[in-house]
Amino acid sequence: MVSPLLALCRHPIVQAPMAGGASAPQLVAAVSEAGGLGSLAAGYKTADGMYQEIKQVRGLTSRPFGVNLFMPQPACADPAAVEVYRNQLAGEATWYETELGDTDAKTDDGYEAKLAILRDDPVPLVSFTFGCPTRQELQALARVGTTTVVTVTTPEEALAAQAVGADAVCVQGIEAGGHQGTHRDNPETDGAGIGLLSLITQVREAVQLPVIAAGGLMRGAQIAAVLAAGADLAQLGTAFLVTPESGAQPLHKQAMTDPRFVRTELTRAFSGRPARGLVNRFVREHGPYAPAAYPQIHYLTADLRKAAAKTGDPQAMALWAGQGHRLARQLPAGELVEVLVAELDEAKAVFAGRDAGGAA
Ligand SMILES: Cc1cc2nc3c(=O)[nH]c(=O)nc-3n(C[C@H](O)[C@H](O)[C@H](O)COP(=O)(O)O)c2cc1C
Repeated sequence: MVSPLLALCRHPIVQAPMAGGASAPQLVAAVSEAGGLGSLAAGYKTADGMYQEIKQVRGLTSRPFGVNLFMPQPACADPAAVEVYRNQLAGEATWYETELGDTDAKTDDGYEAKLAILRDDPVPLVSFTFGCPTRQELQALARVGTTTVVTVTTPEEALAAQAVGADAVCVQGIEAGGHQGTHRDNPETDGAGIGLLSLITQVREAVQLPVIAAGGLMRGAQIAAVLAAGADLAQLGTAFLVTPESGAQPLHKQAMTDPRFVRTELTRAFSGRPARGLVNRFVREHGPYAPAAYPQIHYLTADLRKAAAKTGDPQAMALWAGQGHRLARQLPAGELVEVLVAELDEAKAVFAGRDAGGAA
């Protein structure tokens, strides 16, 4: 029997949910229309904002798509550290002629209200990041026919997802652009992130769930590699971020292949939680001492990042990017899916040829 996950797309390619505007309804629809699986990002949106985007996607395609939710976060462990960081960023606010944000915003990202909409008017797939939902929450989605996916960054998190009845896991390697979906941010484990190929194998041996592999995938041959390693689908964020349908800031798109930005790093500088982005001045100057306080730091720096974008300065923007960013191709999203599938087929043919050659 084909797993419900595989039945959602013709090609084993998932466009990653990308909060902050990149995974616009046009991108999601274009990918799903091309036979991949598009994903909306509900993170940082209101429940109604999420619902409007769902309706927009439905207006553009009748193909399946996913919606990604942020799990509620624990209360801020150290409000004093947030205030210290606020003072340290005062000069940035003056420079960009803006204010630092209010950090009292709710830490639940409207989770309950979003879940209620997704139960009342179901979508084909719901994925979760930054934690593990409850068994009851997953069962409620299963009852309305929704496939559920939990993002994991360790075999232990995969076991937790299996224990609550998730249909699949999204295995996110350390190469991935944007936030690590770690269930609980812990500075003591900084630097302990696992590379994708190793993580796929560890998760496959720990749980019996279908695997979506994410992190640094930019070419069809890499997709062939993760499928060979045991993944069922490959999820790509950075590769789709630069497409014309993506709602990412133009400066963010350009930065991916700008020779000024040669490397990425995991940083808490913009949000208070480790996220991989291009190393710019802000990351270099503030990353080393930014506190572990998500989402408080996200709200603290939100207007600063917007002001930097408005003045055309990428040096204080959150330029989320995976390790493969220099391989980004600015193709229309549907065309990118086709190119990736052609490369995947070519890589499979090479594997098959080697097999045949070996047998001769
Ligand atoms: C700009 C950006 C925003 C992201 N936002 C989300 C998100 O809202 N939810 C989520 O589960 N993952 C998010 N991710 C992570 C992706 O799901 C995925 O793990 C990552 O893009 C894979 O690595 P790659 O960018 O190298 O392809 C984001 C990634 C990027 C680049």
